[in-house]
Amino acid sequence: IFDDHDELWLFGYGSLIYKAGFDYIERAPATIEGWVRRYWQGSHDHRGTPEAPGRVVTLVEAPGETCLGMAYRVTPAVFDYLDHREKNGYLRFAQAMTFADGHTEKGLVYIATPDNAAWLGEARIEAIAAQVAASTGPSGPNRDYVLNLADALAALDAKDAHCYLVADRTRALIDNQSP
Ligand code: BEZ
Repeated sequence: IFDDHDELWLFGYGSLIYKAGFDYIERAPATIEGWVRRYWQGSHDHRGTPEAPGRVVTLVEAPGETCLGMAYRVTPAVFDYLDHREKNGYLRFAQAMTFADGHTEKGLVYIATPDNAAWLGEARIEAIAAQVAASTGPSGPNRDYVLNLADALAALDAKDAHCYLVADRTRALIDNQSP
């Protein structure tokens, strides 16, 4: 299906904002309409384990809301790589994104929907933070993901109360844990 394209736009809204892990042609902040980030996806393979899953972000439909992320212009091979790396519930969807200069591009985004096996769904911020503070997986502690994402969002001046609250509560729990 990519035969007539040798470059595509990928919209990153989670770990892709602070760490790509693949080569790209260019990247730039961009927004998508009608979605918000939520820590509603379980991570069995990166930031937790099957027995003790961590929590990572996915996108949830929210008419009227705007989500700021990082767009990457990549070759189709990057999607093969991410299909394998992000096999824990994420599927790719077509998505239009808008850049700071106002122009839009069609591209793709990975979203974990409620029908995937690793889905955890909504929970109180306190419960999300407690799960994050307690979880670790092959990619490292879940807390690093949450704090890195909050820092990266702040650096972009992103408005994202949910992600900042989860990060603040996680930081408070960690501070209380240390001697
Ligand atoms: C992202 O940061 O956009 C992303 C999240 C989950 C899977 C793949 C990409």
